[in-house]
Amino acid sequence: MNILILGSGGREHAFAWKMQQSSKCDDIFIAPGNAGTAQIGTNVAIDVNDFPAIKTFVLANKIEMVVVGPEVPLVLGIWDFFANDDELKGVFVLGPSKAGAEMEGSKAFSKKFMAEFDIPTAGYREFSGEEVEEGVAYIATQTPPIVLKADGLAAGKGVLILSTIEEAQAELREMLGGKFGTASSRVVIEQFLDGIEFSVFVLTDGKDYKILPVAKDYKRIGEGDTGLNTGGMGAVSPPPFVDEAMMKMVEERIVQPTIKGIHTRGMKYDGFVFIGLIRVNGEPYVIEYNCRMGDPETEVVLPRLENDLVDLFLAVRDGKLAEQEITEDKRAATTIFLVSGGYPEAYEKGKEMTGFDGIKDSILFHAGTKETEGKVVTNGGRVLAVTSYGETFQDALTISNKNAAKVNFAGRNYRTDIGFDL
Ligand code: AMP
Ligand code: GLY
Repeated sequence: MNILILGSGGREHAFAWKMQQSSKCDDIFIAPGNAGTAQIGTNVAIDVNDFPAIKTFVLANKIEMVVVGPEVPLVLGIWDFFANDDELKGVFVLGPSKAGAEMEGSKAFSKKFMAEFDIPTAGYREFSGEEVEEGVAYIATQTPPIVLKADGLAAGKGVLILSTIEEAQAELREMLGGKFGTASSRVVIEQFLDGIEFSVFVLTDGKDYKILPVAKDYKRIGEGDTGLNTGGMGAVSPPPFVDEAMMKMVEERIVQPTIKGIHTRGMKYDGFVFIGLIRVNGEPYVIEYNCRMGDPETEVVLPRLENDLVDLFLAVRDGKLAEQEITEDKRAATTIFLVSGGYPEAYEKGKEMTGFDGIKDSILFHAGTKETEGKVVTNGGRVLAVTSYGETFQDALTISNKNAAKVNFAGRNYRTDIGFDL
């Protein structure tokens, strides 16, 4: 079948790489894609949020499956757009409906959902613009650090952790005053949880589910988890502290009630639930839900998944997920992201990249890259994910580090300490 993948990151390159291994995959298209996806399939210059243009392309190219990488088209309702259009009825969209995507699109929605279905998470209160003084008074009763979350999508910048009551109060006023536009017209104030984070990915059809290999990502720009937050500087799968006993707790206390909640509420959900978790005193709590796969986690999760990914997606479509069994590569995988100098603040694009050719023992997943005049150049902040396998994550990391050093471009930066806290 012909498949269209929406997105342009390392996550989407990893999807293309994995789906192309399936005998069921004929032509594969990526919109808009990057220099890496162009080596697997055909890049198409369509914006992921331009649904009418996607429809025209899908019909013209007999696409039977659309895999949605990023959250924005999901929150904007791409699933519903396809479901409500007679000409698109036979096309399967892997992703939740607009209602399902609210799990990521609204923090207030997901907190209410967790409360209703008894899912362990930080205690919280939510405030709207009219309730700013109540919010300020509430903060005065709390013990810092104080966690403030913009309700809506804020391009990964909507969570602030403040170390004093005064800073938190000032920040609340700014957020409710429009700091993140309508995304912060409501703000969730949450109890701070102290622990180590990890990511669990669940594939579901809204009734049955399968849990994919577990991972941990590293978001800070600097070694030892210091400095600004980024889209992700690297990842490890599996993080050794997430043992069988922990996964049993996660499945029973979090995954099962989450899927039951989705089912009970009648949310149409044909896709991934990415559960951001934190271990506190040996027990798992939900930090957030996302309605898509993680990036850079996908670049270590899919290499460790032995199943045919197209088969898994078809099982979601056909309501046969329960018949599938997930098998994992026993090896560990790590990925290291090469990023542009200056990222996550201002950075330059268009730097020529060299040194790919001799690399045989890592998988290179492109993110912010493009091809111009036969050269690969940088085209974003996060540029290239270098994924390797090893008997342990340390072995895998040694290989990723060796190969990260071989790929060159002006301003290149990366962390050498991914997994340092494991
Ligand atoms: P989110 O967008 O909800 O994932 O939040 C971004 C990051 O903020 C998370 O990955 C955590 O590192 C941190 N964070 C969010 N909520 C909390 C919390 N309640 N306690 C401690 N850290 C948090
Ligand atoms: N790695 C975190 C995310 O994709 O949101």
